[in-house]
Amino acid sequence: MGAQPLEPMRMPINNLINVVTSRRQALEMATKLGFGLPDATKIAVVVSELARNITLYTQGGAITLIPHNGQRKGIKVIAQDKGPGIEDVERVLQGGYTTSRGLGMGISGSKKIMDEFEIQTVAGAGTTIKAAKWLD
Ligand SMILES: Nc1ncnc2c1ncn2[C@@H]1O[C@H](COP(=O)(O)OP(=O)(O)OP(=O)(O)O)[C@@H](O)[C@H]1O
Ligand SMILES: [Mg+2]
Repeated sequence: MGAQPLEPMRMPINNLINVVTSRRQALEMATKLGFGLPDATKIAVVVSELARNITLYTQGGAITLIPHNGQRKGIKVIAQDKGPGIEDVERVLQGGYTTSRGLGMGISGSKKIMDEFEIQTVAGAGTTIKAAKWLD
């Protein structure tokens, strides 16, 4: 009857259905961890934006959600792909830079929402973005 312990969850991202699923799973995990609806929704938006980027700019990848429910409570998000890499990370982090006539706000907005946000990207090899948001 009690709440199930939360487990890390890895989701392949290959299409828009996967994006929607990752968004919903993020909302669910964040809510279970104790985030209120406004923060849980923001976390879900971040997951959705990173997943959407994977579908737009790469041949596919994965999103991993890692719950932290010990002394420190919060959620870690890892977005991984083996795509072309992000060419100008500094510009992307400033916001407003897009190669797809988007708003160029997905990554810069995500960084603002999360407490930790780190991009590792290698031209021709892929991108890993690690982010975390903690419950205070
Ligand atoms: N996983 C990725 N692999 C390669 N390039 C990427 C990846 N994610 C983002 N980019 C590059 O970084 C740019 C900025 O991404 P960002 O998500 O901030 O904005 P956007 O996708 O262009 O527009 P939107 O505001 O709709 O998200 C993209 O236009 C793309 O060139
Ligand atoms: Mg985007």
